[in-house]
Amino acid sequence: MNPPEDLLKAARNAAKNAYAPYSHFTVGAALLAESGKIYTGCNVENSSYGLTVCAERNALFAAIAAGERHFTALALSAPKAVTPCGACRQVLTEFCDATLPVFI
Ligand code: THU
Repeated sequence: MNPPEDLLKAARNAAKNAYAPYSHFTVGAALLAESGKIYTGCNVENSSYGLTVCAERNALFAAIAAGERHFTALALSAPKAVTPCGACRQVLTEFCDATLPVFI
């Protein structure tokens, strides 16, 4: 497991499943859990827009549902460089150190 390369590859793969018919901005996220497992997510948009969920939160919630509680790295894939939005940062803060490396 090589965090930057393997995590970025997983994020790129996850972005392929993004549902983004409104923004056309497809995002994939990959989180490395303390267990060594990688959890991925993509953005899922909704016509209400407010109910859209970012790739980061989808990856995190999938990992939490699988029993994980702490994460050591995050990778993101998008058409242009992005950093997690405020809502995702708030949620990530619950389970990650402030020094979490984010590969973009
Ligand atoms: N988006 C993410 O999934 N993650 C980010 O870090 C930035 C924004 C999504 C939300 C929305 O579906 C689209 O990208 C445009 O903002």
